[in-house]
Amino acid sequence: MTCIVVTGASSGIGAALVRLLSEHHPVVGLDRHAAPGSPVIGCDLTDPASVAAALARLPDRIGGLANVAGVAGTAPATRVMEVNLLGTRRITEALAGRIADGGAIVTVASLAGHHPGFDDDVRRLLAADDDDVLAWTRTAGLSGAQAYDVSKKALLRYGRQLSARLAPRRVRSCTVSPGPVETPLLPEFEASMAGAVERAATWTGRHARPEEIARVVAFLLSPDASWISGVDVVADGGLTARRADDAR
Ligand code: NAI
Repeated sequence: MTCIVVTGASSGIGAALVRLLSEHHPVVGLDRHAAPGSPVIGCDLTDPASVAAALARLPDRIGGLANVAGVAGTAPATRVMEVNLLGTRRITEALAGRIADGGAIVTVASLAGHHPGFDDDVRRLLAADDDDVLAWTRTAGLSGAQAYDVSKKALLRYGRQLSARLAPRRVRSCTVSPGPVETPLLPEFEASMAGAVERAATWTGRHARPEEIARVVAFLLSPDASWISGVDVVADGGLTARRADDAR
């Protein structure tokens, strides 16, 4: 059975996904923080040498890739773009050719990627190289929170592009947009969003648990999702619908 590669595997949604997939699959986790003795391979997605070293330890053929690693908008804007967009793109481009027929790439975006604005910029950024993306981020003077929105909007578009590009090889690509999830990242979202996360909680009365998002990702990676590609699945406990109601 071909293995699934999961980034961001040491914490939160990624760790939950590794636990879930491991019940039926070989799984390899990658993360910047790999505890000694843990099965996770240490890999900083923003460091090409670190990614190259991790790639050398991965099988030549894999069944799928789950892009989960990310940082919140409390980080500086360039760091947010480096991890969320450029790091995700780096590992995806490196591994796409290894994904077996019938496999899939699932990328965790965010509801933040659905915020209005920056559409033309995102289109240009996806055609730009890493240095140009970072130069634009500095010139545009983005806050970390704005960079988070842009990075996730770019991942939504990148996920669709991959779907079209990889279809001839029968590899699917989807994205998942969670609302607030109870992970170590949540307090940072609260800090960068100034209270919006708390209001969000009132719809379902709680935030998502990491395993509730992991199950969506696992489904999209699986052959059960064989007819689903190029789409974003919003997993937000009804929050988007509530906001639409509020707007009426
Ligand atoms: P988390 O902080 O628990 O896990 C993120 C993992 O990514 C960490 O283990 C971290 O070490 C790893 N990581 C960060 N930078 C890295 C790098 N340069 N190279 C390799 N690994 C790196 O966070 P959580 O909540 O599990 O987040 C997972 C994904 O879900 C992120 O992409 C996040 O943007 C997204 N998300 C989370 C939401 C939430 O409320 N927690 C809401 C919407 C989206």
